[in-house]
Amino acid sequence: SPLHDFLHGLPKCEHHVHLEGCLTPELIFHLASRNDIALPNPADNPAYASIAALTARYEHFTSLDDFLAFYFEGMAVLRTEQDFTDLAWSYFQKAHADGVHHAEVFFDPQVHQSRGVAYATIVDGFSAGCKRAETELGLSTRLILCFVRHLPVSSAKEVYEEFLAHKHFESGVVHGLGWSSTEVGPPKDMFRELYASAAQKGVPLTAHAGEEGDPTYISTALELGATRIDHGIRLVEDPELMQRVAREGILLTVCPLSNVRLRCVKSVEEVPIRKFLEAGVKFSINSDDPAYFGGYILDNYCAVQEAHQLSILEWRIIAENSVQQSWIPDERKAELL
Ligand code: ADE
Ligand code: ZN
Repeated sequence: SPLHDFLHGLPKCEHHVHLEGCLTPELIFHLASRNDIALPNPADNPAYASIAALTARYEHFTSLDDFLAFYFEGMAVLRTEQDFTDLAWSYFQKAHADGVHHAEVFFDPQVHQSRGVAYATIVDGFSAGCKRAETELGLSTRLILCFVRHLPVSSAKEVYEEFLAHKHFESGVVHGLGWSSTEVGPPKDMFRELYASAAQKGVPLTAHAGEEGDPTYISTALELGATRIDHGIRLVEDPELMQRVAREGILLTVCPLSNVRLRCVKSVEEVPIRKFLEAGVKFSINSDDPAYFGGYILDNYCAVQEAHQLSILEWRIIAENSVQQSWIPDERKAELL
């Protein structure tokens, strides 16, 4: 796009990227071999015949759940602390090259724990990748632990107990909590108790809502204490709720290429960027699962520009909002503005 160089140079913050969603087909095959882990048999699932076949399969997701099956299968190659560090470091290098100065990144510990990986292995591995990004790239980082909606609440409770026992919030190793995975189906408020406990301790809370689910998923997340909404594109269907979100300065972390790949919208034109701008809803533009959706953050910025033809001023507003709504101290905000 004509604004490509401008968008590349614009200091960006990323607020919605799953580190496990940065696991490329290349890295899946590499780590499967390094850890001697068998990938699904291509006789059962031809997508695993080769790196090229897997890459091609990712172009035809039919829904969030269709994607999630591959996402959970792929992350099974992560075993050692080094695997988690390597994965995080590969993302931060790419983000740095795209002009990201600050990144708030998700991870799903329950899914690794259910395969026998210890909580400390996961967090220490990812945290080492974050540290390296801070020292070698000058990129500030925040780890956000996500509870997953497809496993029982008891499993989320166990990981929350570990998070508390390790004092990971107090020590700044894990900065906030979120929820992710399948949206429509499990109870909307399944994490009510956990969010109440975390909110009481001052832990910043976000939640995936309004991606496939209707606006009541968003209002429920806000009721439970989320101060940020991941995706949230279906907010446009409830003008009253949209006004409240604008008034309260709640950030939506929008992921345009993800929305297209998971068929939440037909094209990036359908992502309600202009409606959010007109309503004064703050949002950032993010990659979600870049290894699966065909683009990192700059690709998402460029796709939005192609589809919506924003002005330089509008882009400056988006970039400034994404700094202001980051979970960082004012001194760091001042450096980023
Ligand atoms: N986990 C990884 N990507 C996700 C998405 N787009 N929605 C819900 N959960 C996810
Ligand atoms: Zn996501």
